[in-house]
Amino acid sequence: MELLKLMKRRRSIRKYQDRQISREDMEKIIEAGTYAPNAGGGQRSIIVGVRNAELAEKIGRLNVARFDRSRLSGSYVSADQPSIIDDPTIKSGFYGAPAICIVFAMKNFLYSIPDAFCCAENMVLMATELGISSCIVARGEETFDNEIGAALLREWNIPENYIARCFVLLGYCEGEYPKGKPRKAQRSKIIE
Ligand SMILES: Cc1cc2nc3c(=O)[nH]c(=O)nc-3n(C[C@H](O)[C@H](O)[C@H](O)COP(=O)(O)O)c2cc1C
Repeated sequence: MELLKLMKRRRSIRKYQDRQISREDMEKIIEAGTYAPNAGGGQRSIIVGVRNAELAEKIGRLNVARFDRSRLSGSYVSADQPSIIDDPTIKSGFYGAPAICIVFAMKNFLYSIPDAFCCAENMVLMATELGISSCIVARGEETFDNEIGAALLREWNIPENYIARCFVLLGYCEGEYPKGKPRKAQRSKIIE
């Protein structure tokens, strides 16, 4: 798909079918993440793909367990794709997505967070190209800051000096795929 058209088509999807994505597609999405721009060319981020709906659900529950809504600047995201920001009763931050990718970055590196989110952006665009729905989700840090989370990091051999920065949810949209939202006016200018 033409790139700008693809960017306009990509939406954050928060209702997923049970259908799993293929391993081949997950590999392409992860590869796209590894090609993201990265501070100083250090290629520091680590991406872990979880193609296991049960495990994704388990991590999704940890993702909202300590969610502090008081730190949000707004409280409403989308009528057609309600988010956890809109629904305080939700039990998982991953909306039933059967697959997730977790982006880890170095704890004490200045550009750790932007590095991780650049990866995530590349990944959601690749997913869109493959016809796979996605959503970037935050709160990586607190998701693994508990016994269950720490055990997973040990099992995956994540280095001690790394921390989860964000998630990319992956799957197939349940129901109608939402249309693009109109852009707010006057958000850019070109100075000649
Ligand atoms: C830094 C960042 C953090 C985000 N965190 C969450 C999140 O925790 N949960 C969620 O449902 N969506 C999250 N999103 C997705 C945004 O809510 C979404 O991009 C926004 O509402 C615009 O909608 P669209 O992606 O469909 O265009 C996040 C997006 C970004 C860039």
